[in-house]
Amino acid sequence: MNSKDQIQLNKLPNHVAIIMDGNGRWAKQKGMVRVFGHENGTKSVRDIVEASAEIGIKHLTLYAFSTENWKRPKLEVQTLMKLLVKSLKKEIKTLQDNNIKLSAIGNLDDLPKKAHSELLEVIDKTKNNSHMTLTLALSYGSREEIIKAVKNIAANVKNNIISIESIDESIINKHLYTQNLPDVDLLIRTSGEQRISNFLLWQIAYAELYFTDVLWPDFKKENLYEALINYQNRERRFGKTSEQLS
Ligand code: FPP
Repeated sequence: MNSKDQIQLNKLPNHVAIIMDGNGRWAKQKGMVRVFGHENGTKSVRDIVEASAEIGIKHLTLYAFSTENWKRPKLEVQTLMKLLVKSLKKEIKTLQDNNIKLSAIGNLDDLPKKAHSELLEVIDKTKNNSHMTLTLALSYGSREEIIKAVKNIAANVKNNIISIESIDESIINKHLYTQNLPDVDLLIRTSGEQRISNFLLWQIAYAELYFTDVLWPDFKKENLYEALINYQNRERRFGKTSEQLS
């Protein structure tokens, strides 16, 4: 039995989020420049989007570019933005054929004009798709997202739109970029690093964390299946005891 057959389809995580890491090291290992790693990283993006849709995951969120990534060398940033535009143009048909809705979170106004307009166009064209939502985190930082939410909620209190007493988890959720997404169930990070790097801090409160040494350009369908099987073998207690769950 291959690993795909071992996945229990009735126990899939509803929302999988991935920190795609290791492109630079993958390229270096091959004696190539970093952007070669990013180019090959886009092939893994395709593979994982396809595998997730095939298997029936409803929400997939990919950390494609953080607010901190703007500090990288100019040429690398430009290449990443070009790769984004190229991938969007190339994959729109795949998204449509597979009924996948594209969405994005982050400070999208920071993106270069071309990337911004291409992104909005694909988001608009796929807005009625319903099989899976693919969310790209672009110029995304979780602390920044939380600060924005706090400011908006404070303004609503000041303007008597909501009361302080009414502030609860759902109000906070409604003010985050992820307002239309459920909490993350499974967070995967590739490349052996075991940290969160300012990604979805609020949304991963109860997520299962899965770290793998595999570098992102080598992370393919089989690796996703392994992560899903690992997830399915865990007991998610949400603060309760094992006995309470059974
Ligand atoms: C981390 O590897 C990867 C990124 C910062 C960018 C991820 C981008 C892609 C996979 C390609 C474009 C994405 C889309 C959605 C088309 P790293 O550069 O930090 O690797 P390192 O830690 O080995 O240096």
